[in-house]
Amino acid sequence: MTNPSTDFIPFARPSIGTDEEAAVLRVLRSGWLTTATEAAELEREFAAAAGAAHAVAVNSATAGLHLALEALGIGPGDRVAMSPYTFTATAEVVRYLGGEPLFVDIDPETLNISPTALRSTLQRASASGSRVRAVIAVHIAGLRCNMRAVTSAAQEYGAAVVEDSAHCVPRSYSGTHPRPGTDGAEVAPAHSETAGADRGCVSVFSFYATKPVTSGEGGMVVTDRTDLARRMRVMRLHGIDRDVWNRYRAEGATWEYDVVAPGYKYNLADLQAAIARVQLHKAERMRRRRAEIAQTYRTAFAALPGLLLPAAGEPTEEPAGENGCSDHGHHLYIIRLREGALKISRDEFIDRLTEFGIGTSVHYRPLHLMSYYRDRYGLQPDDFPVSWQAYQGAVSLPIYDAMTSAQTERVTEAVTTLYHRHAAAGQD
Ligand SMILES: Cc1ncc(COP(=O)(O)O)c(C=O)c1O
Repeated sequence: MTNPSTDFIPFARPSIGTDEEAAVLRVLRSGWLTTATEAAELEREFAAAAGAAHAVAVNSATAGLHLALEALGIGPGDRVAMSPYTFTATAEVVRYLGGEPLFVDIDPETLNISPTALRSTLQRASASGSRVRAVIAVHIAGLRCNMRAVTSAAQEYGAAVVEDSAHCVPRSYSGTHPRPGTDGAEVAPAHSETAGADRGCVSVFSFYATKPVTSGEGGMVVTDRTDLARRMRVMRLHGIDRDVWNRYRAEGATWEYDVVAPGYKYNLADLQAAIARVQLHKAERMRRRRAEIAQTYRTAFAALPGLLLPAAGEPTEEPAGENGCSDHGHHLYIIRLREGALKISRDEFIDRLTEFGIGTSVHYRPLHLMSYYRDRYGLQPDDFPVSWQAYQGAVSLPIYDAMTSAQTERVTEAVTTLYHRHAAAGQD
């Protein structure tokens, strides 16, 4: 018999084994702890996995998003479109640069930005004479946005596209726009030396503690654009024209360097890069295990009409339709309680799951409900009705490689039991 307090199933748990331990020891014993060869190797391996020309290792996805927008030349007053159904990092980086996030509602099925709503927002902005400089497309739960539709809208209105791939593994996602490159090339990168010569988007991954590839904290930016990669490399380390490893340790090292801009301190330490390398190696196997768990949930919950199950995603790079998505990292499993389906609220449902020993979370309380964005832009909950409604029913269930089949079963049993116990009339 399970005891919910001692057998609690956490919402998230990384798979860390002896390989990660050995990797950390290797760095600890190497005599050099911060950015050097491990980070360089990780960049090489990640670029290959993502199918991108360049990978720039950073200490968080937030840092990566900031660097990407900076390299694209986003500055004071510039508008950047995104859905409010995301973590605050996606929007806050726009504010770092003095720009303004412009929210666009989501597709009710995928929870990703609605390409139709994006097109009308870009159209409206353009008609009122205020161009939107960039779009950030968040792949919620690792389910890839319909990038063909997003980039074609962005390109039509001269906006660059940055992908927030914090929930993705590089295999489940190509790391580039559908080819041929559709990077919104009308936006002249402020720091470009080879603008237009090498097209492609920027995509930012997270190595945060709960993410599909983790090093505790960390991130990676991938791009096909040499000019953007170069700018991001300089800006991630104080605006110094070459990295610290080259200054101190590499052959021909010299103390001399120049500062070409007031950069940031966003480099990824070798201690973390070494862990991320092991995780990257395991990423596809872990993704498959999560896909299996998603399939178990889907089968178990198919008989519960009051639950809205997440879009499955197709094992293909081709978009599934106008608002469709393709491919899936299965980072989150977000069920939604249909309005009126249960006699208890979403919050009570979560409390009951906790009593059953099941950890959960909510993705996301949309940004237009957060006081900073709400007050700054005078937003109301139903300004983005699909996001608002999705939030009200959303419950994220545990889904990770380290979950056992017995744990998965306990989750399906708990959800099913609670559902039947609290179903409103006609929902059984
Ligand atoms: C959608 C999304 N974007 C960006 C981030 C920021 O990632 P990091 O913690 O690596 O900065 C997160 C992290 O939770 C996220 O979920």
